[in-house]
Amino acid sequence: MKHNPRYLVLLLCIFALSTRAAVYAPTNEVSDTAATILTPKPLPKPRINSAGIFGVRPGTPFLFTVAATGERPMIFSARHLPAGLHLDAQSGRITGMLTTPGDYTVTLHAKNRQGSAKQRFNIVCGPKIGLTPAMGWNSWNCFAHAVSEDKVKAAADAMVASGLINHGWTYINIDDFWEVNRDSQDPTLQGPYRDTDGRILPNPRFLDMKGLADYVHGLGLKIGLYSSPGPWTCGGCVGSFDHEQLDAQQYADWGFDYLKYDWCSYMPSLEAERGISTNYMKLKTWGGSHTKDREQLMRPYQVMRSALDQQPRDIIYSLCQYGMGNVWEWGAEVGGNSWRTTGDIRDNWKSMSRIGFSQNGHEKYAGPGHFNDPDMLVVGQLGWGALRPTELTPNEQYTHISLWCLLTAPLLIGCDMTQLDDFTLGLLSNDEVLAVDQDPLAQQAARVSKDGDLEVWAKGMADGSHAVGLFNRGESPATVEAKFSDLGLKGKHRVRDLWRQKDIGKFRDSFSAVVPRHGVVLVRIW
Ligand code: GAL
Repeated sequence: MKHNPRYLVLLLCIFALSTRAAVYAPTNEVSDTAATILTPKPLPKPRINSAGIFGVRPGTPFLFTVAATGERPMIFSARHLPAGLHLDAQSGRITGMLTTPGDYTVTLHAKNRQGSAKQRFNIVCGPKIGLTPAMGWNSWNCFAHAVSEDKVKAAADAMVASGLINHGWTYINIDDFWEVNRDSQDPTLQGPYRDTDGRILPNPRFLDMKGLADYVHGLGLKIGLYSSPGPWTCGGCVGSFDHEQLDAQQYADWGFDYLKYDWCSYMPSLEAERGISTNYMKLKTWGGSHTKDREQLMRPYQVMRSALDQQPRDIIYSLCQYGMGNVWEWGAEVGGNSWRTTGDIRDNWKSMSRIGFSQNGHEKYAGPGHFNDPDMLVVGQLGWGALRPTELTPNEQYTHISLWCLLTAPLLIGCDMTQLDDFTLGLLSNDEVLAVDQDPLAQQAARVSKDGDLEVWAKGMADGSHAVGLFNRGESPATVEAKFSDLGLKGKHRVRDLWRQKDIGKFRDSFSAVVPRHGVVLVRIW
């Protein structure tokens, strides 16, 4: 058969047009000074943004708020919701209790005047909880030692009022300084450490812990707190040493859903005093001891996990010991839902980028219910007790959120929730970006290529696509290339810009983008 030359030329043209080889250069670029909001405003029609998977233990209270954007009123419903659970049509809250372990596949529906949406939701009833990384707020990076019950309530209120609850943000976590302090002269931090039965007492700033937990639950959110396996926390407040059972019971009685457990003053030699004396209360040093012995490092975390497991309540367990003894290698074994891999983050490029980009290699230890934790988010109004805006530039903030989502890290907002500006809100409410963090496969991204300051990080998603970050750690704009062969892909693929929520086109063999200084282009490749 003879080929018609005109037909061949036409074919070639179609081929050239359908496969972009050009370098992607987004038009609404972010600069070091202009805080360009990339996240499009949510549409009025419903969109369900919750993670598609949720773990719960049998016999524990169930609370899950279906996160959905779109005009209110909205009516929620669910198909195949297992017996024992109830979905409130107005609020989208699922409550109740499951008694029989198993996998339950539910379809969630949300409907309003503008249309409807549905999403598959797998409830996994068994020993594992926290199947996707926790998303919420923590008091430390903004308030530090100045946290109070009122500030925690205000943060919870703001989580709802800002609409962030509709994007899946859930936990309201009190860090250090809800307990009584050993050294402070501030009367609001003083008082008896424990009652006569040994039960931990909050400081006078937290008059009603149960009331506070009820208040937060009443908003459809969950609540967390903080302690140390040592006698003292890092801030010199009362810790849990030799009181783990009582403390776990108290947290559950109050209704807490999350515990951050911070090594601080713990030292293995304390174990000799367990159950026989209170000499350990005389300990004044901070920092405990940094043993290299793995069993000794694991021990205090096992003690508390086993106390938590005995409670009729699911409590997410967040290990904090700054990465000692390669905690990523055994954090899951001691029942940690996450473990801090480094020291504390600060809101500057050096700290954030050093922590974030040093996570390569840890990906093999993360999976559903157990995650590496590169520390909390440093965007918005922060200051560890003296509020001021983050010192990260707009591009650095896009890098921060993109990288943490690729790392499948816990996302804990560190800023004052009552002072969220539109830029920060945009950073925290991009559903396509957050979906990278909350993907049910729970795979953590690894670095797939590095060319000087230019790095490509990628993770596999449950639908078979890849989330890919093209990062420029250098001081001037540069073109970053993601080779499809580095992702295990061949041929032509559809590429979508996740921050801008726009399809870019189809690309053959590789995708390249111009990336600003300290910036990112985050894409998903199908
Ligand atoms: C540090 C911890 C911080 C914060 C602080 C409270 O050890 O890394 O995130 O919890 O203690 O004192």
